[in-house]
Amino acid sequence: MGELRLPKAGTIEIVPSILSSDFARLADELAQVKAAGVKMVHLDVMDGHFVPNITIGPPVIAKLRKHSDLVFDSHLMISEPDEYAERFVEAGVNNLTFHIEVVKRPEWLIEKLHGWGCTAGITLNPETPVELIKEIAPMCDMVLVMTVEPGFGAQEFMPEAAKKVIKVREIVGPDIRVEVDGGINPETTPIVVGYGADTLVSGSAIFGQSDRAAAIEAIRKAARR
Ligand code: DX5
Ligand code: ZN
Repeated sequence: MGELRLPKAGTIEIVPSILSSDFARLADELAQVKAAGVKMVHLDVMDGHFVPNITIGPPVIAKLRKHSDLVFDSHLMISEPDEYAERFVEAGVNNLTFHIEVVKRPEWLIEKLHGWGCTAGITLNPETPVELIKEIAPMCDMVLVMTVEPGFGAQEFMPEAAKKVIKVREIVGPDIRVEVDGGINPETTPIVVGYGADTLVSGSAIFGQSDRAAAIEAIRKAARR
């Protein structure tokens, strides 16, 4: 599955987040969203330190890799992304997004990721100013703007944080993906797409619904509004 890559910028991608899925049936959950036509899935990694919650790590991702040919978009909400990145790439992630608040050597990590054949994303918490990623963003393949405090699914969308997408899009231009994560549903989708986001992570609005295909279609339709 070495050919799996972050899709080139220029398309809207809906990226279901497994955080709201049934973790006991992960492979089936991924198959359902794949059947609904998505190319990517968002894997939320939490260490109980950077955020007050714990999810999955490389062993689970490595097993899941054998059951899915979706692009694995990993979101590392961990305190030491520099330390652990390689293990996630070995486990099979295709994009690795780390937080600017904790990364020690961002340039080094981005170069390493690219050398390992993995794209790099950088992300910032709602209260983190966009200025902090200004220098590094053009080296990345994606910038993720958090629209909730990281740690939990099904939180309320933060409109002020979402506005940062406008500035990020100005900085990176059209060739780098701008992803949003937190509270994305058919109501909030037109707002973030209007600001310039093209990569829409959605957890509870997809996996919290029994008909995942209909839920994905509703977001897709809202993105065209
Ligand atoms: C939150 C995670 C999200 C989460 C979003 O820390 O980064 O990916 O799954 O969940 P919703 O879409 O329910 O807000
Ligand atoms: Zn996430």
